[in-house]
Amino acid sequence: MTTSPDTLIVQEVAPRDGLQIEPTWVPTTEKIKLINALSHMGFSRIEAGSFVSPKAIPALRDGDEVFKAITRHPDIIYVALIPNLKGALRALDAQADELNLVLSASQTHNLANMRMTKDKSFLGFAEISTQMKELVKLNGTVATTFGCPFEGKIDPNEVMRLVENYLALGIQNITLADTTGMANPVQVKNIVRQVLTLITPEQLTLHFHNTRGLGLCNVLAAYEIGARRFDSAIGGLGGCPFAPGASGNICTEDLVNMCQEIGIPTTIDLEQVIQLSRKLPALLGHDTPSQLAKAGPNHHLHSPPDYIKTLV
Ligand code: COA
Ligand code: ZN
Repeated sequence: MTTSPDTLIVQEVAPRDGLQIEPTWVPTTEKIKLINALSHMGFSRIEAGSFVSPKAIPALRDGDEVFKAITRHPDIIYVALIPNLKGALRALDAQADELNLVLSASQTHNLANMRMTKDKSFLGFAEISTQMKELVKLNGTVATTFGCPFEGKIDPNEVMRLVENYLALGIQNITLADTTGMANPVQVKNIVRQVLTLITPEQLTLHFHNTRGLGLCNVLAAYEIGARRFDSAIGGLGGCPFAPGASGNICTEDLVNMCQEIGIPTTIDLEQVIQLSRKLPALLGHDTPSQLAKAGPNHHLHSPPDYIKTLV
């Protein structure tokens, strides 16, 4: 994958964020097929599953089998979401390339989602980092960075404190996540600007949900001030089952189409992503929020109606 400093790096999260909230069981073989198909579309990372309590997220209880059976593309980092040491040990056993450790800026959401305080999450992450930082890549996510469905506004100083905590543990790649789409472009610029005083654009990922229709606006705002790495989900699937009102991630094909139309380079094959996205309703039993899957890209033109020939 050739990239330039302008390239927007797309990281696909549908196999994890997308499927974790689906009420219908997606068979292990179908998950593997989905990840294998995504592996040929130009993504730098694919979040292929999570290693959390099967009671908390039954939809992803087969993470071990999925990670062991996928056909890995050598250029792609296959990521696993991790809440605790037990999950990290499972992920190492399944040969995940990167562990994405997650806690929330909101104490209430952390308690609802992870059933522990932020301090307790960090105690587990410290243990994971001590045991595994030489063995596997580590990424630290701050969920609800831009707002919490329980607590409302989040103090940016608290986000900075949590980022600094990750850095102090030797975890240098950071994701700022907008769990329920509460971010706006002005706020995004403020927080991203502050976080980029601590880490480089290469170390920072933005994870936006389109719950309130501002997902791609937030991408552009972050990109304008130097952010380059973004999570998105094919079909616009996704959402946290422990965040009331959660809905889909920004949609991969809608994101890539926007980039192509305005001249931001990506490494993604848009046509292939659209084709795969169009298969999702059959897999999941419902329509998806994808705009591009329905409309097609701008250059897909239609034959004009015959009657216009009589009008000229
Ligand atoms: N993988 C598999 N099983 C796990 C696990 C993991 N990572 N962590 C804990 N468990 C199991 C324990 O072994 C125990 O099993 P048992 O009942 O058979 O003895 C059970 O889960 C309870 O363990 P405990 O440590 O008390 O966990 P908890 O009930 O306090 O839940 C979490 C804590 C973090 C495991 C749970 O809240 C969780 O998985 N949250 C993740 C939610 C999520 O993925 N949200 C969306 C992504 S942001
Ligand atoms: Zn998410």
